[in-house]
Amino acid sequence: MARIEVEGYGTYEVEDGTRLVRALEDHGVDMLHRCGGYARCTTCRVTFTAGEPDAMTVAERDKLLERDLLGRVRLSCQIVCDHDMALRPAMPLGSSDFTEPGPTPEATITPEPEWTTRPAP
Ligand code: FES
Repeated sequence: MARIEVEGYGTYEVEDGTRLVRALEDHGVDMLHRCGGYARCTTCRVTFTAGEPDAMTVAERDKLLERDLLGRVRLSCQIVCDHDMALRPAMPLGSSDFTEPGPTPEATITPEPEWTTRPAP
């Protein structure tokens, strides 16, 4: 089990291997996921205060680079819960112009993940 502490919400015990965006939404966190979890939209972004994963999908790295967000946020649709983390949703539905969060992301990471390591801060 991994402990996920979400600023403004609470701390949750999450089954190892759970996709972070799904874990957050399943616990009532006001998440956006406009592209359905395909590393395209960046609306599922979170900022970490502890336990930021070193593992990063190539899709996440490339999208964050493209949007000039690398080193600033992470994409919760590209992260698996396998250790304790503390984070804050960086683009909640309630603070956006969207009226619904987007298609439900699949249970496992999409697209098929190719893994790399996040660049050193
Ligand atoms: S990048 Fe779109 S849901 Fe994660």
